[in-house]
Amino acid sequence: MFPIPYGRQDIRPEDLQAVAEALQSDFLTQGPKIAEFETAFAAYIGAPYAVAVANGTAALHLAVLALGLQPGDLVITSPITFAASGNCALYAGATVLFAETDEVGTILPEAIQALFEQHGSKIKGIIPVDFAGRPADLPRIRSIANQYGAWVLEDACHAPGAERQGLNKFRCGDGSLADAAIFSFHPVKHIACGEGGMITTANPEVYQRLLTLRTHGITRDQTRFSNPPSLADASLNNSDAYPLWYMEMQELGYNYRLTDMQAALGLSQLNRAESGLQRRKEIARFYHTQLQGIGDLQLPHADSEEETEAHAWHLYVIRTQQRKALYDYLREKQIFAQVHYFPLHLMPHYRTAFGYGPGLFPKAEQFYQECLSIPMYPSLSQEQLMHVVHSIRSFFQENPSA
Ligand SMILES: Cc1ncc(COP(=O)(O)O)c(C=O)c1O
Repeated sequence: MFPIPYGRQDIRPEDLQAVAEALQSDFLTQGPKIAEFETAFAAYIGAPYAVAVANGTAALHLAVLALGLQPGDLVITSPITFAASGNCALYAGATVLFAETDEVGTILPEAIQALFEQHGSKIKGIIPVDFAGRPADLPRIRSIANQYGAWVLEDACHAPGAERQGLNKFRCGDGSLADAAIFSFHPVKHIACGEGGMITTANPEVYQRLLTLRTHGITRDQTRFSNPPSLADASLNNSDAYPLWYMEMQELGYNYRLTDMQAALGLSQLNRAESGLQRRKEIARFYHTQLQGIGDLQLPHADSEEETEAHAWHLYVIRTQQRKALYDYLREKQIFAQVHYFPLHLMPHYRTAFGYGPGLFPKAEQFYQECLSIPMYPSLSQEQLMHVVHSIRSFFQENPSA
């Protein structure tokens, strides 16, 4: 029963079996499990291509490079996100601009539009975040990007399986609106590989570039070689075929590969992704009903079944002006809530590098002051859920809001 963290992995006997089989196979890395995982993940997300990488941060880094980000370019992301959503642009020598968020921490299209009106086509890309699992407003973001010839890289780490219905139907990461999307397989995410990440895209050139960048910028594809065969082996004429050992490093890439053991674990976890997602929605509905009308608590989308259904519920983020006291109270009850996220523009590195400071994004900063992520993961038992609900209720009984 205890402790109850805000999120945790769910490892079952079939996962252990899958990893053991990979360990006993001929390949620990660069083997067949990688492509198998990519194909299965692409099918789940509904994207034409998927590239597996070492973690979500590596996915972001490779994606911005494959989309053509250059030193000195400008990129927009959300202040309410994990550091990696902005850091990937810094790795490429670009500058990060932030756009204000709404009351649930989702990036606002109108704030993105305002930044383009100010900076024009110096902004090369937008990295919207599907914060907590709620799809960002990709249709509007896409149309703003189109006006200025910018790309859209969706940070869908929180949102595998999230899907909007209706006229502007899309599934997060499906490649229909964003140029590419990225996912993380950190243990608190929907699919756990320990470390792991994935990039999805519908663009075949971006896909090819990602494959090369993932492995040092090296290709084994003879049709792309630029050195003559005689340089590969002095006995050859330039009309001969290249020797089979030959490969070319054509640009500067990285070793951002996933191992076969991680891919095997990811594949096994992917079999339960849909049932896990449905369980998360069930837990969200349970919280919606059990925590309604308590103190000054604001619940995420409790009054909208449409939003609840579209959401992937990586996090269930409540808001209260008594956040710190509630956090401490829950810890005493062995419930380890968490805060997502301290605004990225207020991190010392961003303040020093770009001169950002408090007051620039009042809604995001107020969101941060009040937000608390309470436990949300498929293996939470009913007993654990009741303990969370009772503890929150008793906190507000003992500490009525002013
Ligand atoms: C929104 C977001 N973006 C990027 C990342 C980076 O993923 P990883 O930890 O796999 O590098 C994370 C994960 O922590 C995340 O939550």
